[in-house]
Amino acid sequence: MPPIKRIAISTGGGDAPGLNAVIRAAVLAGDNQGWEVVGIRDGFNGLMNPDGYPEGGVIHLTRDSVRGIVPLGGTILGTTNRGNPTCYPVLQPDGSYVEVDRTEELVGMFADAGIDALVTIGGDGSLAIANRLHEAGLRVVGVPKTIDNDLDKTHQTFGFDTAVSFASECIDRLFSTATSHGRVIVVEVMGRYAGWIALEAGVASSAHAILIPEIPFDLQPVADLIAERDKRGAKFSIVVVAEGATPVGGTVSVLGRAVGQAEKLGGIGAQVAAGLEELTGKEARTVVLGHLLRGGSPTSFDRLLGLRFGAAAIRGLVAGYDGVMVSLNPPTVDYVPLAEATSRMKSVPLDCDTVLTAREIGINFGDRPPA
Ligand code: F6P
Repeated sequence: MPPIKRIAISTGGGDAPGLNAVIRAAVLAGDNQGWEVVGIRDGFNGLMNPDGYPEGGVIHLTRDSVRGIVPLGGTILGTTNRGNPTCYPVLQPDGSYVEVDRTEELVGMFADAGIDALVTIGGDGSLAIANRLHEAGLRVVGVPKTIDNDLDKTHQTFGFDTAVSFASECIDRLFSTATSHGRVIVVEVMGRYAGWIALEAGVASSAHAILIPEIPFDLQPVADLIAERDKRGAKFSIVVVAEGATPVGGTVSVLGRAVGQAEKLGGIGAQVAAGLEELTGKEARTVVLGHLLRGGSPTSFDRLLGLRFGAAAIRGLVAGYDGVMVSLNPPTVDYVPLAEATSRMKSVPLDCDTVLTAREIGINFGDRPPA
């Protein structure tokens, strides 16, 4: 493989606390190899549409530019979940859009910019794009990011720990107000395809019911639990629901869709609250934590994981790896092929210890627990 002189870093998809830690470690470790490091603005937009960036779509990243950024939420490079280069929406004269594969063109743009390798930080969508770029000839190392923790082949993604900690803190606060008013409070959290945030935050904060995409729910068992709690004097209940949870035989609750973007999920919390009000006769309120879970300063776990991932990405390039994703494989960080990592989602296994724990302490999943 030709020696590396210049690498690029990009962040794609929804942001997650810890992104800046990855960027810092990759910049410093790359700089220590004697490489020039650049950052691409807003996913690949800075490279594909430079005219939209009067100050430059590709910026130099130096020791100075990454100083003090580890505690910051978001990403200093910006991100986007639009403009997937593998199916790029192009506006037609009649106002419709046609999706065009711009992968080869983008790989050519990397070559023209003198970029020898890419460290790209993203979730399932961004890492699938990374794999296509790799197949088209670009040297790529991916870094797994998502608050949803639904990426396969890594024990955990960074961002998840911060989201769970903040969700737990919010649920703790809702406990006291729910108790004072004797209400049911339904807390909707992110979790598009997998219920990791709902499960871990719900169990950690002793919610009474947890509804996740992996277990289509029936509200009757939840209502029965609420009524039974009421009878023994516990007049309030907390229900945590993942945005991607669905009722038995129903579909996911969608708020809308924009061109070139995945469907915007949301609304299931309100549906669950209305259903529980009807079944129990108790007042039920909804709190949607949504994007709050993506913001804020990363926990020390996510800072450390981000730094470890960023350094490992550079270590991987030095070792000659290509088309791989860095992966947390406790106690170490190693590498898995991007193709494998993106071939399926990591759902909550229904027999995992946390689900068993939840059931054993009486948390309901919107089902009749197995005898
Ligand atoms: O990062 C993943 C995620 O948090 C999903 O749970 C959610 O559906 C999605 O991002 C929402 O992203 P956005 O609002 O940025 O389109």
